[in-house]
Amino acid sequence: MKRTVSTDEAIKRWNLHAESFTATYTKYGDRSRIINLNPTIFSLMDEVDGKQVLDAGCGEGYLSRVLAEKGAEVAAVDYSEKMLEIADKRTPSDLGIDYHHGNCENLSFLDGEQFDWIISNMVIQDLEDYDAAFREMYRLLKPGGSFVFSILHPCFITPNSGWVRNERGEKEYWKVDRYFYEGVYDQRFSFAADKPIVWYHRSLTSYFKVIKQAGFVIEDMVEPKPSKEMLKQYPELKEDLNCADFIVFKLRK
Ligand SMILES: C[S@@+](CC[C@H](N)C(=O)[O-])C[C@H]1O[C@@H](n2cnc3c(N)ncnc32)[C@H](O)[C@@H]1O
Repeated sequence: MKRTVSTDEAIKRWNLHAESFTATYTKYGDRSRIINLNPTIFSLMDEVDGKQVLDAGCGEGYLSRVLAEKGAEVAAVDYSEKMLEIADKRTPSDLGIDYHHGNCENLSFLDGEQFDWIISNMVIQDLEDYDAAFREMYRLLKPGGSFVFSILHPCFITPNSGWVRNERGEKEYWKVDRYFYEGVYDQRFSFAADKPIVWYHRSLTSYFKVIKQAGFVIEDMVEPKPSKEMLKQYPELKEDLNCADFIVFKLRK
């Protein structure tokens, strides 16, 4: 029988683990965001000064704040009350960010608003009804507007992926398994071992289909890897990576 986890239960877990998840966040998010996600996201975005931007699944709000500091008018949505509480504490009121409690699968409370940019950083994989979310993003964009989203790379991060180690416990290679599995799986962060955060795996083909059905054109796609500057700044990173952890898309309405 296919495993299911209700959205209410998934959000309860985000509420439970929101403090731990965001404990290492700096002004620019955690290490993955600083090294891989932010440089990629910003390389796919143009000038946001004076533009209407929606941060869909904003979490503790670092990206909303960075965008607001660049002059964007930012609305942000998250379904976890705890994440929004943290976002509220970390956000100076003069940035004017409009935080909303809501589900990215149904953003009808934003009816009447139209955005130049929608950005969703590591959220789509949380959504059970991701088709609905893509339709919502399409509906809320101005004609010609763009939707930039990042997810775990579905070709490499799969339900049973992980390091295979030798008898001395040293990493040998990264194993990928169950690529074509479509559904929920546990993300075993050390702080959430008992009640794991749940994410959905889908193949690239499935992503492509829902993106196309929603009406989008794929304008760009990047598999982030650390730049030379980042490799200098974080020498523990290896230039010769095993695989891409993330994939970032830019879609055009
Ligand atoms: C991995 S965190 C990313 C947060 C933020 N974008 C960042 O990069 O720091 C995923 C976020 O998605 C939110 N989320 C999960 N399901 C959601 C839904 N159905 N609607 C809106 N937000 C949701 C969670 O509460 C969490 O804040």
